Amino acid sequence: MNLAVLASGRGSNFDAICENFQTSELFPKLLVTDQANALVLEKAQKRGVPAYHLPFPTQSREEAAEKLNEILQRYSIEFIVLAGFMKVLPTRFVRQWKNRIMNIHPSLLPRYPGTHAIERAWEAGDEIFGITIHLVDEGVDTGPVLFQNMFHRLKNDTLESIEEKIHRMEHRDYPRIIKNYIQTLRRSPS
Ligand code: GRF
Repeated sequence: MNLAVLASGRGSNFDAICENFQTSELFPKLLVTDQANALVLEKAQKRGVPAYHLPFPTQSREEAAEKLNEILQRYSIEFIVLAGFMKVLPTRFVRQWKNRIMNIHPSLLPRYPGTHAIERAWEAGDEIFGITIHLVDEGVDTGPVLFQNMFHRLKNDTLESIEEKIHRMEHRDYPRIIKNYIQTLRRSPS
């Protein structure tokens, strides 16, 4: 299964995926970012993953998605993993790739969809934090949930320590769930 990762930022999940799939056919064949200065570009270079910068302006998302499809085709991509990709993919694209785009979100969805999820949970005084791995549909962080994991806040936790725990959890769980899900896709009739 040829996998592409879309990311906008520092790329710690991209790195965890590469690390876990080092000797697997699931090692990413491609990295696409919408941010010219994203740290993930350096990470892709170090890992030897072909990387593209593709701007994704809100007013021309459709054209950007067409370009993205061209790049994905060039690399015979069959599955897309979002790892901190901060743009909403257009409906047409999402429908074309139905059940073949996965996302990770640093909250227990449906709580705190969108940006700054961890900070919002912290500011709300939440006692339980967690992550969600889900398929992407036309909404923002609304697709079918495949997996959630959580932990209780401890007395001496800070926002920083919570963030660290969440990221550690993401890095451990995301590759595993990607692998499991792709196995189930293979067994599906279509
Ligand atoms: C992660 O917390 C992920 O859940 C969210 O964006 C963040 C990306 O972090 N969607 P990184 O770029 O993988 O380090």
